[in-house]
Amino acid sequence: ETEVEIHDFDFPFEGPFGSYDTMQLQRGLKIYTEVCAACHGMTRVAFRTLSDETGPAIPEDQMRAYAANFEVFDQSLADGAGDYRAATPADYYPASSLANAPDLSLMAKARAGFHGPYGTGISQFVNGMGGPEYIASLLEGYRDEPECAAAMETPMEGYYNIAFANGGFPDACKDEHGHHTVPGSWIAMPQPLYGEDVTFDDESANSLEDEVQDVAAFLMWTAEPKLVARKQAGLTGVIFLSVLSVLLYLTNKRIWAPHK
Ligand code: HEM
Repeated sequence: ETEVEIHDFDFPFEGPFGSYDTMQLQRGLKIYTEVCAACHGMTRVAFRTLSDETGPAIPEDQMRAYAANFEVFDQSLADGAGDYRAATPADYYPASSLANAPDLSLMAKARAGFHGPYGTGISQFVNGMGGPEYIASLLEGYRDEPECAAAMETPMEGYYNIAFANGGFPDACKDEHGHHTVPGSWIAMPQPLYGEDVTFDDESANSLEDEVQDVAAFLMWTAEPKLVARKQAGLTGVIFLSVLSVLLYLTNKRIWAPHK
């Protein structure tokens, strides 16, 4: 098993009362649009959802104008031959333009940041699955090649990343038992963020540490847009059941009172 280094970030949507931070989602959307969308797609996210109140809550007219920046292929145009047109709120983000860049719609739920110990899932029970932590850690996980690999005759393909588990790994960085001597592996994605890659109208912080959390939070929202509603329903359920428990306890007492 590959060792990786995943940091436990404090996201505002964590815990039973957590919810998305609208401004953070808007910053993440901007980073996604200006950086990630160059290679990645998001085919399960409809532009209209960007106006959701528990999401980025982009005003309707701005969302409409934003969508129009994207092109979609419409089969109904040109007498059925199909043609490209500007996207409308009802359309979905385009697919990845780079063939080997995975779709990011559900990535925050497709990856786990926390595992074990020994596959028991206890860490996930305590800390959550860690999908957004994984994405944030991956984006800031680029390092100089370790010495074991830098000395190789044919260099490794890709980029060394201490959070990426499933990439190429050279024999030169394994010990005599085949165990990895350095964390992570080599990923095909070049480092996309360095800090100060985007600027925000309200001059929010844009260091690498801030950017990776903002875009990871945004991708958590795309993967689980109903998180806030789910938590609210859960809380309502718990309160309801608590009240019901008290009533049942009192009812039980009254029913059996004559027989005691
Ligand atoms: C893979 C996120 C920008 C190309 C990935 C993965 C994530 C991700 C989460 C999946 C890693 C995994 O499989 O566990 C992002 C984000 C970006 C961004 C949030 C913007 C901040 C880019 C850009 C490019 C790119 C600009 C192209 C230059 C790729 C490729 C892979 C990948 C080729 C596949 C890597 C592999 O499997 O070895 N990205 N990415 N990404 N990304 Fe990005």
